[in-house]
Amino acid sequence: MESAIKRIAISTGGGDAPGLNAVIRSATLAARNRGWDVVGIRDGFNGLLFPGEYPDGGLIALTRERVRGILHQGGTILGTTNRGNPIAFPVQQSDGTWLEVDRTRELLNRFDEHRIDALITVGGDGSLTIGRHLHEAGLPLVGVPKTIDNDLEKTTSTFGFDTAVDFASECIDRLFSTATSHGRIIVVEVMGRYAGWIALHAGMASGAHAILIPEIPFDLEPVAALVAHRERHGAKFSIICVAEGARPAGGDLSIVGKAVGQAERLGGVGAKVAAQLEHMTGREARTVVLGHLLRGGSPTSFDRLLGLRFGAAAVRALDEGHRGVMVALNPPTVDYVPLADAISRQKTVPLDCDSLATARDMGINFGDEMPSRSAIGQ
Ligand code: F6P
Repeated sequence: MESAIKRIAISTGGGDAPGLNAVIRSATLAARNRGWDVVGIRDGFNGLLFPGEYPDGGLIALTRERVRGILHQGGTILGTTNRGNPIAFPVQQSDGTWLEVDRTRELLNRFDEHRIDALITVGGDGSLTIGRHLHEAGLPLVGVPKTIDNDLEKTTSTFGFDTAVDFASECIDRLFSTATSHGRIIVVEVMGRYAGWIALHAGMASGAHAILIPEIPFDLEPVAALVAHRERHGAKFSIICVAEGARPAGGDLSIVGKAVGQAERLGGVGAKVAAQLEHMTGREARTVVLGHLLRGGSPTSFDRLLGLRFGAAAVRALDEGHRGVMVALNPPTVDYVPLADAISRQKTVPLDCDSLATARDMGINFGDEMPSRSAIGQ
């Protein structure tokens, strides 16, 4: 039976993640091979909401030529925004205050005007929540999960995570030699929002001596004891990997601010940990914040492949008549799960997972237990 779909749109929203262009490429090719026309919406939904601000009217024709040679590129060729929530769009009033306006109806009208039959929306929990709302408002769509944080339920992995972990590990590798030469503590702060996946995986893969994650509120006494213990055994340097969302037991998250229409910005915990450790141990401590470097650059082949699989699966889902679902990695296959289930809660590091057990077996400290006498690490 011939599909009712003639034209689809692709939109990328929220923070960029390496692998987005792989999704755009495979979804475009899979759709075109079905005879569908494909357009990309610029900057989340802004291309449809503010067409006058774009020389091309806010939509990019996604032809085979346009998606050629983009697999290795980081970022998204469509652009993205984390200030374009159509349900609660921030509009500044004449007195300088901000009002959140629901622009759902206007957005749906634009889809009609452009004769777009269905949408593939690529994003994290924020964009997928918007996707669920648009689906319930009548827009046929399929979601594709994206985040370097790997914090989405119902998918074993998200693209961008592997690239972020790989790069963070390489940076920590490099910090080892300078930390060793100077006999310093180096605290490396990594992104990940309220989940410790990046810190845990990068810290373990690069041999960090302590790892502080949001799932385990920390006390610095055990970390300082580990530093001192290592020093007594001839290792005058220590590497501490801290997730931006880590917080002291009984203390608060480190928040650097919140702009209108955006989620709170985390940051600063690394500097606090370094200052306190320097004070507690008497050893010089420095901080390195990897920040947005983790989101930049070329995706790993794992993330490219996952992006390709997700993009093509989203087109197959639409072709098979699925709506309001998210494609999800469930090895060895890619499934479709209801969007409502996918965004119901955040996927944080389970305290009983084998990675944590492995790290503890090796003597890596999480700021919740005094180090054993033999735990000096590498
Ligand atoms: O969700 C991805 C992420 O990179 C988080 O790890 C980080 O907290 C946040 O986005 C940073 O967002 P922004 O690019 O708006 O500063």
